[in-house]
Amino acid sequence: MKVLVIGSGGREHCLVWKLAQSASVDKIYCAPGNGGTDLIAENVDISVMAIDKLLEFALENKIDLTVVGPELPLVNGIVDRFQEKGLKVFGPTKDLALLEGSKVFAKEAMQRFKIPTADFAVFDDSVKAKEYIAQKGIPIVIKADGLAAGKGVIVCNTVNEALGAVDLIMEEKIFGRAGNKIVVEECLEGEEVSLLLFTDGESIVPLVSSQDHKRALDGDQGPNTGGMGAYAPAPMLNDGFLKRINDQVCRPLVDGLNKEGTPYKGLLYVGLMMQDGQPKVLEFNVRFGDPETQAILPKLKSDLADLMLKTIDGKLTNVHLEWDDRYCVCVVLACAGYPGNSQKGGVIEGLDEFKDLEDVYLFHAATKKQIEDGTESIVSNGGRVLNLVGLGQTVHGAQNKVYSAVKNVKFEGMQYRHDIGNKALQLPK
Ligand code: AMP
Ligand code: GLY
Repeated sequence: MKVLVIGSGGREHCLVWKLAQSASVDKIYCAPGNGGTDLIAENVDISVMAIDKLLEFALENKIDLTVVGPELPLVNGIVDRFQEKGLKVFGPTKDLALLEGSKVFAKEAMQRFKIPTADFAVFDDSVKAKEYIAQKGIPIVIKADGLAAGKGVIVCNTVNEALGAVDLIMEEKIFGRAGNKIVVEECLEGEEVSLLLFTDGESIVPLVSSQDHKRALDGDQGPNTGGMGAYAPAPMLNDGFLKRINDQVCRPLVDGLNKEGTPYKGLLYVGLMMQDGQPKVLEFNVRFGDPETQAILPKLKSDLADLMLKTIDGKLTNVHLEWDDRYCVCVVLACAGYPGNSQKGGVIEGLDEFKDLEDVYLFHAATKKQIEDGTESIVSNGGRVLNLVGLGQTVHGAQNKVYSAVKNVKFEGMQYRHDIGNKALQLPK
């Protein structure tokens, strides 16, 4: 079977790596890929946004399965376009990608299906939004409706901050049309966790839970990022909590969409705030999380390509996944300046050191191959550059693996968090 993976992050390197272990997969292409996917797959120089070109490539090369990594092509309808041509493609159609592409759509779906989430109101008028904020008080959360590269949520601790956020999003349009509407939402407290699941529209096959680390600096300080590290499983989600999440969130969503005649097929990412064991949904994403995927897939023993095909074909009934029961910790190595404007172009040293390390994996994110004067090297390409992953019997063991391995790699301005996984260790016994 020939597979095309679309994307160029650490998530996509991990997906390519895992798909390459499937008995049925003979050849993998990755568009556009990175310096790491280049070692396993054939990188194809097509942007994730160039849906026509991706479609042409898939048809010409008789691709049997296309896996879409990032949200933008999903929201732009890549799955519908591939399906129209009879191609198998993993991900939701455009109408359901709105669960991530429109916060208003997602909140209204939660309301219809009685899924627990923060209280909210929707506005297309900044004056009315401000009146509501004055009435509700702080803390309060302001969210641009559309996609805003992970920056569209502003948690406000003063009224002025909240009013300013409304102006920035609705008047100054810092996120463009994504800010035509906003969601103003109750601020939730608790422990944030992620639950990813496969669904074919009826059956639900959950992956192990995980926890992302969104802030740039140790101790959850600094600005929000795409994610500076993750670990799996998240021990705060015991079996009782997982059942509650299934019964109150996953089942109502999957069944509700199915009953409305729009069954969701693909991977669904549920971002949750857990407070006193009660789940409330922060967000839905319609794709694999990054970096959660890099902490989850190294634990998966089952065949990923098979799982994706069964999702597409509506055959997930009675599918049970097999897992390595160790903990997995993923640390993101980012460029200086990330999540703002980050440096590009430095040569990365020490990449060969990882080949023989046991229970340590290296996934590339923003890297690319450079050939200068006949010498080949891997350079950083800005943002999140590499992901190091360690497996261990305990969280501490996995942390030891990954943090000892970090010492082998070097690039100019490299920054990373030193406390990924600590939250799992701080839990009451
Ligand atoms: P989202 O893109 O909706 O996941 O929001 C990004 C981040 O903002 C989340 O990961 C949370 O840390 C935070 N956040 C979003 N909504 C809320 C909320 N209602 N209360 C507190 N924090 C929130
Ligand atoms: N790590 C958060 C996300 O993938 O959206």
